[in-house]
Amino acid sequence: MTPRRQPSRGLFITLEGIEGCGKSTQAKLLGEYLRSLGHVTVETREPGGTPLAEKIRSVLLDRADETVTAETEAFLVFAARRQHVAQVIEPALARGAIVLCDRFSDSTLAYQGYARGINVPLLERLNRLATHDVTPDLTLLFDLPVATGLARRRSAAETNRLDRESLRFHQKVRAGFLDLAKRHPARMKVIAARASKETVARAVSRIVTPMLKRLHRAGRQAAIGRATPSGATEAGHALR
Ligand code: TMP
Repeated sequence: MTPRRQPSRGLFITLEGIEGCGKSTQAKLLGEYLRSLGHVTVETREPGGTPLAEKIRSVLLDRADETVTAETEAFLVFAARRQHVAQVIEPALARGAIVLCDRFSDSTLAYQGYARGINVPLLERLNRLATHDVTPDLTLLFDLPVATGLARRRSAAETNRLDRESLRFHQKVRAGFLDLAKRHPARMKVIAARASKETVARAVSRIVTPMLKRLHRAGRQAAIGRATPSGATEAGHALR
């Protein structure tokens, strides 16, 4: 195994929740807000974020007829995560960027662990291998009733293999996320996601803004901006 995470200069924020919770919209709004303050952001997602990991995503979410086992799902997401952490997340944090990641390790625990039934401590161990201990500084958990989330999602044009799971499955995912938030209260913040996107965005900025002061104080921000060739995008403004 290669050496574990070095102390990084950036900030790692993940956004989690059930299908249709609005996390992708909030990631976009948070990215815009952070860049308006002069921060460099890298916006990315899981599974995905590199060309290889995006291919794994397509395989994982494909609606083909073959039954996919829980363990197969877990190995696919871990393979994608290792690639993503090594190629995108660690280098961005080392440069001092704020990484906004739409889903990360908590999704594996909620979907493959709490909902599919794979032993959670085992998943946590495998996850350490996949991440080399890169852990979010902050996880925003967008919580709303499953029926509301699924209704939003199923009215969208595209649904994937996991969207089509039963209501019971998605209820276990939601309960799993809430349990994880109880276990990690310092890192995970639960946000009521049924409100309008503007109201939710205000709740997000109330949580994130104090963390920026810390980042600023430490002088950890590099003012560069460019697009990466992967699924992740990087953007920045000159520091004000
Ligand atoms: P989404 O990001 O568009 O919501 O879709 C990603 C899907 O992949 C979602 O159904 C949850 C699923 N997923 C897992 O099952 N395990 C994981 O570790 C991750 C990151 C996602």
